[in-house]
Amino acid sequence: MTTPGQPLDSVAAAASRGQGGSSTEGERTSNVREPRSADPTPASADPGATYRLVVVPGDGIGPEVIAGGRRVLEAAGRLFGFGFEWQKVLIGGVAIDAYGMPLRDEDMAACAAADAVYFGAIGDPRYDDPKAKVRPEQALLALRKGLGLYANLRPVTVQPVLRGSSPVRESLLEGVDMLIVRELTGGLYFGKPSGQSDGPNGREVVDTLFYTEGEIRRVVKLAFELARGRRKKLTSVDKANVLSSSRLWRTIVEEVKPEYPDITVEHRLVDACAMTLIQRPAVFDVIVTENLFGDILSDEASVLAGSLGMLPSASICERRTAYGLHGLYEPIHGSAPDIAGKDVANPLATILSGAMMLRWSLGQPAAAEAIEKAVADALAGGYRTPDLVAATGEQPGDKKVGTQAMADAVVAALEAGAVSAAGAGTKGAAQ
Ligand code: IPM
Ligand code: MG
Repeated sequence: MTTPGQPLDSVAAAASRGQGGSSTEGERTSNVREPRSADPTPASADPGATYRLVVVPGDGIGPEVIAGGRRVLEAAGRLFGFGFEWQKVLIGGVAIDAYGMPLRDEDMAACAAADAVYFGAIGDPRYDDPKAKVRPEQALLALRKGLGLYANLRPVTVQPVLRGSSPVRESLLEGVDMLIVRELTGGLYFGKPSGQSDGPNGREVVDTLFYTEGEIRRVVKLAFELARGRRKKLTSVDKANVLSSSRLWRTIVEEVKPEYPDITVEHRLVDACAMTLIQRPAVFDVIVTENLFGDILSDEASVLAGSLGMLPSASICERRTAYGLHGLYEPIHGSAPDIAGKDVANPLATILSGAMMLRWSLGQPAAAEAIEKAVADALAGGYRTPDLVAATGEQPGDKKVGTQAMADAVVAALEAGAVSAAGAGTKGAAQ
């Protein structure tokens, strides 16, 4: 599916169809066994491969959720016959502490050289002062820009057993399955000029919303491709009644549309879209939008899933590695410093981000699906981190667990799924 050299379009369409060995840093992981699946693996999947990953635990709860995510990935590797070589890199507040800067050039280079980047969270309240010159978040923006991660994919699904966890009425959550495609390297986050100065009327401030047509077109095209692999509906979100940037955005969507006659396209204004996301969330399939709108709408959409701790993301670029598209994989939640170090954070968003990494960057879609199924199975088995319990109140059958025990439950479900797949002689893990 993700053969190097294949056009981006087919990679995107293939990856969008999915949804839904132990090692230590610096050590090569030997592959525990060769896959014995009767089914051919996708073209780019390299049986027995050792993927070179940069892992960025980051700040706050980042190290805990990443530890859980790594154990799940290692388990998937053991079952599907691949391994990992991990290189841990300090980025964010921890890097300011260690090196005086949030992202060193050599660490950026390591991220660029890896097959993919597995990222926890960054952000530290010690640097929240608006006057602070160095902030952890600068590192994330520099990474996105420096690695050319122009598209951020945020799938929003509601696990059936968590429907009661959302403040949104259960009946409205039936059929919710959307993919938010957020432009990630342009717009207000990067436009120049940006900054505060002193003017004749006191302090002045400016941020710039800048896009080139090429930047808009590539993310819009990707969204069309992704819609093609799904329910074939694309919602482009803008503020074209006010912003020039949105008018060009809308024009380009219209220009690209004839190339995709099979896709139904609609335009929505961002304010109205914010309302519909809660009132009728099931109407959305693929949403494509600019950087800041995507940031805001995806946090809003996470409410549907019951917790911010449930939503993964993939940030991908145009560049290929030996196995797929280069990318960075992170939960959409932040570093949650208030609960850091307490083993209470929900690791599922990070675990699901690992699944997206297997699909998009590593050419292992079967392993990705197995992880997604294992997450659903662990939840169906009653395992709940405190954020999920808090959302519904404790229910009979709930097994309240911490971060690592939740990751263990996913590993156990993954291994159990592999055993039953082998027993049934079906395709997939552990054959
Ligand atoms: C996100 C986050 C980041 C963003 C912050 C941490 C800079 O909110 O990934 O959604 O605004 O992009
Ligand atoms: Mg955000």
